[in-house]
Amino acid sequence: MISPSILGGNFSNTADCIKAIVASGADYAHFDVMDGHFVPEITFGVKMIENLRPLTDLIFDVHLMIEKPEETVKRYIDAGAGMVSVHAEATCHLWRTLTLIKDNGAEAGVAINPATPVSFIEPVLAIADYVLVMTVNPGWGGQSFIPQTVDKIRELDQRRKEDGYSYLIEADGGIGRGNIKMLYEAGLDIAVAGSAFFREDDKAGFIKDMLGDLR
Ligand code: DX5
Ligand code: ZN
Repeated sequence: MISPSILGGNFSNTADCIKAIVASGADYAHFDVMDGHFVPEITFGVKMIENLRPLTDLIFDVHLMIEKPEETVKRYIDAGAGMVSVHAEATCHLWRTLTLIKDNGAEAGVAINPATPVSFIEPVLAIADYVLVMTVNPGWGGQSFIPQTVDKIRELDQRRKEDGYSYLIEADGGIGRGNIKMLYEAGLDIAVAGSAFFREDDKAGFIKDMLGDLR
């Protein structure tokens, strides 16, 4: 599945960004929430999700790059997020936060930075609906893919096969035509694409190419 990130679009018209994602045939729309603390940049918050929600039925995949996400996850879900991921590094109440997301009716994702090993989230693998492996350092679009992160996708894929976990694996950052096949072979289920998606004129063609013969 492909989840284009509106961060790759032009914020002077976010409605157009969402419409472009919907028209492309993508599976989800990815929202990068940044708080200026967990990551240096600030993007947007609950209101953006709320205002864009009526434009489509597409599932909103909300990636919270914010500290203490437990304090606000419910508000993002109430605003229309269908999937919410929180960073394992950003809360000391990870189990509670993931449970809170699930109890409020959304899919709960746990995100890990490039320097965070899979072992750090071992205790929550049984309850996570998806694991978001950051393939760049969080905070900016348009960065280069970090190849060393692929081993974590392989590890997560192997773990779920061995231990019967049902989480999906999402990867985010520096993904495009050049590395999607390798990521799929490593076990990836959901690819986020920001700049690679928005730089395309033929966005439906891009999604089709990214999915190859899978569909
Ligand atoms: C980075 C964000 C990504 C970003 C990806 O902090 O989490 O979702 O939009 O952008 P590209 O695809 O340009 O690397
Ligand atoms: Zn993201």
